[in-house]
Amino acid sequence: MSETQNEKQPEDLLTTALRMTASMADQDNVMALMKQGLSLCFKVLACERSLLIAEKADGTREVIHHAGSGGKDDPYSTTALKMVDERKEPLLISDTVGDKVLSTRESINTADIRSVLCSRLDTLQKLFGGRKVYLYCDSRTNRRPFKPEDLEKFKLLSLLMAILEHKSELIAEQGAEIEQLKGLVRERRFEDLVFHSKSFEKCLNLVRQGAATDVPVLLTGETGTGKESLARIVHKLSPRAAKPFLAVNCGAIPPNLIESELFGHEKGSFTGAVAMKKGYFEEATGGTLFLDEIGELPAPAQAHFLRVLQEGEIVRVGSTRPIKVDVRIVSATNSDLEAAVAENRFRKDLFYRLNVLPVHVPSIREREDDSLLLARFFLKQYGEMYNNNGLHFSRETEKAILMYNWPGNVREIQNRVQRAVITAAGPAITAEQIGFDKNETSASTSLYQAREAVDRELIADALKKSPGNLTNAAKILDIDRKSLRLLLEKYGMEYKE
Ligand SMILES: Nc1ncnc2c1ncn2[C@@H]1O[C@H](COP(=O)(O)OP(=O)(O)OP(=O)(O)O)[C@@H](O)[C@H]1O
Ligand SMILES: [Mg+2]
Repeated sequence: MSETQNEKQPEDLLTTALRMTASMADQDNVMALMKQGLSLCFKVLACERSLLIAEKADGTREVIHHAGSGGKDDPYSTTALKMVDERKEPLLISDTVGDKVLSTRESINTADIRSVLCSRLDTLQKLFGGRKVYLYCDSRTNRRPFKPEDLEKFKLLSLLMAILEHKSELIAEQGAEIEQLKGLVRERRFEDLVFHSKSFEKCLNLVRQGAATDVPVLLTGETGTGKESLARIVHKLSPRAAKPFLAVNCGAIPPNLIESELFGHEKGSFTGAVAMKKGYFEEATGGTLFLDEIGELPAPAQAHFLRVLQEGEIVRVGSTRPIKVDVRIVSATNSDLEAAVAENRFRKDLFYRLNVLPVHVPSIREREDDSLLLARFFLKQYGEMYNNNGLHFSRETEKAILMYNWPGNVREIQNRVQRAVITAAGPAITAEQIGFDKNETSASTSLYQAREAVDRELIADALKKSPGNLTNAAKILDIDRKSLRLLLEKYGMEYKE
C-alpha cells in the first residue's frame, strides 16, 4: 500500500511519539526535527498531506515543509489558518459542505477542501523571526473527513512538536553553557604565561600582532602584571629573536650614570671611566632593548634618547662620533606617563615616539578569576621545584585568593604561593599560609558580597518586570539569556520559565 494513496492504516500515536522522541536523541537541528514530525503527523492521521506553514514579513504565507501528496505550491485553506488565529486553539474542520459558514469561505471553496486540521506552533515562532507558524493537515482527493478523535491526536502531535522544539533548544543551550563553563576553567597558556580572562587575551593578541612589526611598543600597567614577560614575547616573536634582548630598569640606575649606561662612554670621559664601555644600545644591536620604568629617565637622557630614535645613531659620552645602532625599543611604565607629559616631566615628543603601539597590561582586578588560575599554576610549579607535590589550596584559601585584590598582582601571587609551598605543614594550604590576615580578606569579602547583592537585586527586579520570561529579563539586564541562567544558578535564585 502506498502512503500517497492514503489507503494506509494510521500509525499508532504512542509508537509515533516514541519514534519522535527517539529521533530527538540524534537530531539537534530543529528544522530537520520538524520535518520528521510532519511526516509522522501525516502517517498518524492518515491524511494526504501535512504542511508547516509560516507567515512572511509581508503578511503572506509560505509552506516551509511539506509531507505527503502534491507539491509545496498546491493551495491550502487560508480560512483554516485565520480561524486558528481567531480561536487560538487547534481546529478541526470535518465537513465544510454541510457547514453554512465554512462552505461560503473562499479559500475552502477554491481549494476544494473538505476536511482540515490546523494548529499554531507558537514555540517555533522564534525560529522564524517572531512570525506565526502553523501545522496543517488535510485530505483533498479522497476527501476523507477527519473525526473528533483525529483532532485529539492532532492536538497531541502539535504539543509533541512544540515540546520537542523547546527541548532541542534547551539541549543546544545546555551545550553552549557547558562550553562556556569549560571555557571558564580552561587554562590557556602562551609561552610561560597562564590566563583565561578575555582582558589578558586581548592584551596578548595585541602583543603578538605588534611583535612581527618593528614598531616601538609601550607597555603600561601596574607593578607585577607581566610587562617584562610580555616584552620578552615581543622580542621572541619578532624577526630579531636570534639577536640579544636586553632589559634595563631606568629607575634603578643613578641619574648621573644613566646616559653612559645606555649610550656607552669613552675612556676618561668622567671620573671612573677607566676604559671605553659600550652602552646597552650598542650591546643590543640587531635585537631588542627593553626599557623598564621609562618614566624615570632624567631630562638630559630623554633628550639624548630622542636624538637616538630620530637619527638611529648614538654618541658615546665623551665622544662626538655617531655610531649607527639598529635596536627595537620596547618600553614599560607603571606610572601615568601622560600625566608626566602634561606636567612637563616627560618629553611629549619622546612619548609619541615610544607610544606607537600602546599595550595596557590588565591588573589582576581586571582579569576576572585569573588569580586562582595563577595561584594553582604557581602551586604546581613550586610544588615540583621544591619536591612538595600533592599540595592543594583549601576551599577557604581558594575563596580568599579570588576575593583578595592583589595590589602586587601576579608577582605577589607568585611570591605568596612560593612561601606557602616552602612552609607547608600538610597537604591543604590554609589562608594564613598564603599570608592573609583576617582584615585583608574580610574587607574584600564585603566588596565581593556587595557585588553579589547588587547582582541579586537587579536580577530580582528584572524577573519581577518580566515574570516567567528569562529572555526578556536578560534583555532588561543587557546580558544574554545563558549568562542570566548561570547567574541564577550561581546565586541559587529561584525562577520560572
Ligand atoms: N600570565 C602569567 N602567567 C604566569 N606567570 C606570570 C604571568 N604574568 C606574570 N607572570 C610572572 O609574574 C612575575 C611578574 O611579571 P613581570 O616581571 O613580567 O611583571 P612586571 O609588570 O614587569 O612587573 P614590575 O612592574 O614589578 O616590573 C614574573 O615572575 C612573571 O613570570
Ligand atoms: Mg618589570
